[in-house]
Amino acid sequence: MASVKDDVLAALAKVASPEGKRLTDSGTLSDIVVTDGKVFFSITVDAAQVKQWEGVHERAEAAIRAVPGVHSVMVALTAERVGGAGGAGGAASAAPPRRPQMAPGGARPRDGAAPGPAQGPAGPAGIPGVAAIIAVASGKGGVGKSTVAVNLALGLRDLGLKVGILDADIYGPSMPKLLAIRERPQTVGGTRLKPIMRHGMAVMSIGFLVEEETPMIWRGPMVMSALTQMLREVEWGTLDVMVVDMPPGTGDAQLTMAQQVPLKGAVIVSTPQDLALIDARRGIAMFRRVNVPVIGIVENMSTFICPHCGTRSDIFGHGGARREAERLGVPFLGEVPLAIDIREKSDAGAPVVATEPDGPHAKIFRDIAARVRDSLQVESRPAPKIVIEA
Ligand SMILES: Nc1ncnc2c1ncn2[C@@H]1O[C@H](COP(=O)(O)OP(=O)(O)OP(=O)(O)O)[C@@H](O)[C@H]1O
Ligand SMILES: [Mg+2]
Repeated sequence: MASVKDDVLAALAKVASPEGKRLTDSGTLSDIVVTDGKVFFSITVDAAQVKQWEGVHERAEAAIRAVPGVHSVMVALTAERVGGAGGAGGAASAAPPRRPQMAPGGARPRDGAAPGPAQGPAGPAGIPGVAAIIAVASGKGGVGKSTVAVNLALGLRDLGLKVGILDADIYGPSMPKLLAIRERPQTVGGTRLKPIMRHGMAVMSIGFLVEEETPMIWRGPMVMSALTQMLREVEWGTLDVMVVDMPPGTGDAQLTMAQQVPLKGAVIVSTPQDLALIDARRGIAMFRRVNVPVIGIVENMSTFICPHCGTRSDIFGHGGARREAERLGVPFLGEVPLAIDIREKSDAGAPVVATEPDGPHAKIFRDIAARVRDSLQVESRPAPKIVIEA
């Protein structure tokens, strides 16, 4: 019996490229990933030909949607500058696909964005309606980026800003768990997705689209395609700030973000240990290399306060990130203690700023949020005044 992937390939073979070739013979397809009825891949074309390929992209999506067993399709049309290496490797080929560069304006040029190099002199195109995009990042894994990202986002919301959260961790998305989101995003007009609304914030994560147990065998280009789609093909609406929860490290996702959208800045999360600080330094260096300003460093898991006796102990040391920030000449944004409460609330999908807004931890995150807001120079919206006419 043919697998869904075989049926998808057969459907794509019936779609013609602008030169009249079968799509599967056009050398433009990345690996095709089929998991649980969801199909993901990218079409990489010469930047000068993006316009001709737009119709093909749509026909490919329609052809796949008609395949029995397919529930959803995510296809990214990405552009590569002329003079790039040969074919992308056919869909069935074992050769590693080349790394595509994104067309400005995302997977599909929108709003009249002309095809061309990924980053012109003016930098990458923004997301219409989104005033500022910030990344929450670290070099090292497990230091609390996602926890800080979600509570920082809630702190910004409490300051009166309209906030969105993009979970850019394609391999290990956190937002479904941190915000207890189990529903699937709805589509608008067949191709665009509506973010999930939680605590007054718009949230998008690959985890809303694929099951938690699904093995994530993504390659670099697939990570880029998925990120591009989540940035460009989601109805984010009007946002003052989009907080992006980054995966650990300095790899494809970080570069994609820096190339794809104008990042207003990066918040670096570190624990106080030397090893984490070395990785934080790497993260800072990477953002500086791609001209993304570092908003500052947050020291997470700073001091441990015993919930029973109130005694403070510095399990990982304390103050290391503040000293590192001074040394590197970047702002220090605040210290978040290692607190059972923060972990339990995170694990339960009820972040501390949303569920204990009057507690000490919420205040710490709100103070960090205020420093971030000040660095972005976005205005907090005053609560609307109700005028009663006499
Ligand atoms: N301040 C804190 N106090 C107690 N536990 C915390 C704190 N910050 C994070 N944690 C816990 O540490 C674990 C890792 O946190 P989190 O998932 O936010 O890290 P991460 O840096 O996003 O990880 P990854 O690199 O895997 O994306 C989680 O169980 C979280 O609840
Ligand atoms: Mg994380």
